[in-house]
Amino acid sequence: CIKDNASITVFGASGDLAKKKTFPALFGLFRDDLLPKNLVILGYARSKLEHDDFLKRITQYITVNSEDDKQKLEAFKQKCNYLSGAYDQPEAFETLEKRLRELEGERDVRNRMYYLALPPDVFVPVVTNLKKKCYPENGIMRVIMEKPFGHDLKSAKELQAQLDPLLTEEELYRIDHYLGKEMVKNISFLRFANPVLAHIWNKNSIANVQVTFKESIGTEGRGGYFDSSTIIRDVIQNHLIQVVTLLAMEIPSSFNSEDVRDEKVKVLKRMRVGDIKDIVLGQFTKSEDGSKPGYLDDKTVPEGSRCPTFAAIPFFIDNERWKGVPFLLKAGKALNQSKVEIRIQLKDSAAGLFDDIYRNELVIRIQPDEAVYMKVNVKYPGLRTEPILTELDLTYSRRFENMKINEAYEALLLAAFRGDQSNFVRSDELEYAWGILDPVLSWLDNDRPEPLPYTYGSRGPAALDEFMQKFGFVHHGPD
Ligand code: BG6
Repeated sequence: CIKDNASITVFGASGDLAKKKTFPALFGLFRDDLLPKNLVILGYARSKLEHDDFLKRITQYITVNSEDDKQKLEAFKQKCNYLSGAYDQPEAFETLEKRLRELEGERDVRNRMYYLALPPDVFVPVVTNLKKKCYPENGIMRVIMEKPFGHDLKSAKELQAQLDPLLTEEELYRIDHYLGKEMVKNISFLRFANPVLAHIWNKNSIANVQVTFKESIGTEGRGGYFDSSTIIRDVIQNHLIQVVTLLAMEIPSSFNSEDVRDEKVKVLKRMRVGDIKDIVLGQFTKSEDGSKPGYLDDKTVPEGSRCPTFAAIPFFIDNERWKGVPFLLKAGKALNQSKVEIRIQLKDSAAGLFDDIYRNELVIRIQPDEAVYMKVNVKYPGLRTEPILTELDLTYSRRFENMKINEAYEALLLAAFRGDQSNFVRSDELEYAWGILDPVLSWLDNDRPEPLPYTYGSRGPAALDEFMQKFGFVHHGPD
């Protein structure tokens, strides 16, 4: 079984993602003894790298805090191998097969994971070659793929059509790393294990839902990629829409991956973008003090680009539970802070008795500093007989002080080793998610709307406040 013996080949092993996320996550699992006992790790990329340079590169982002961890890291390095080769030449995959057999033979390994941290134009050649040259004869094969899965609905379908004859859905693990984040996985527990929340989770009690992604860094150095991606493809189409499906789905009959994904798909089928006219697009300009460049100052960005680095888009889900409730998805780079959160604002209540009370809000802070808190009105402590707004606060670092929250990639890689696809994106989910955004993407391509400028380090375009008001969000205080 793959839990006991497996090789994992990381394609794109000399790249950024591999050194920042994939190898640190593999080490995290290795350190906690969660990887198969009989294990082979092989890095594969085009760059010619000496073994030591490869090890240096992949351990750059790993921190060890104890003697024990140091030893574990040495043992981990012993397991890591590197092979350089092309992505599109069958002979290179013959060499890969040979190398894998040698390494696997030593450890009696029969199952194979292939992790593709690769640009999308080589997905198909790599999988074709893997299927032809490197398919495990007596074991299981799983291919983990990183986004982007297509550029729009049409290209996503084309990509899938090319992969269909090569991989079964059970063999293909499409990563959306947000699905591995602790607080995203927590959504179903909060919703379905607590009647107090389950009962208010609908259009009768909820006024609006926001999912906000803010990053305080710009597109530094990634402008070339980002320009054709836009914030909409980069973050909203995948991470934020995935979060919405978990917030909005009906209770699945089990946590089995098909049951969960069936429910998520039902949400996507009913989800649509509101009026295109209401969408707010922004593009960052240089910071006030001039120390941070504007988006257009990036040399890799085409002159005069209208690429949105910020977007606020209203969505609706036309079903019994959610009819009329706006789901406001907002994402932006180069903002005043880095924060990802879900904010569920409840409708006004207790009218008449109090003058100054506020709406309840349930906030699930995904990062940084994981938390769930509910804004509530209480009596002002002491002799004043008036209400004050405060929070029922579950900040994880305080409440679960000694418990470790694993990195998203650790959770997802472990799930892939275990064959649990519930937090990976199924092909129909992917298609519906693209389909929902198609009207927005064609508007961007055909009308080339001009994004509103906002200063690097600001809250985003000023029009955002109006957008929020329009969809019934009532603002209370700075948070
Ligand atoms: C990636 C996007 O998918 O997610 C990046 O391509 C973004 O642009 C990143 O910065 C955010 O991930 P995280 O885990 O840092 O919130």
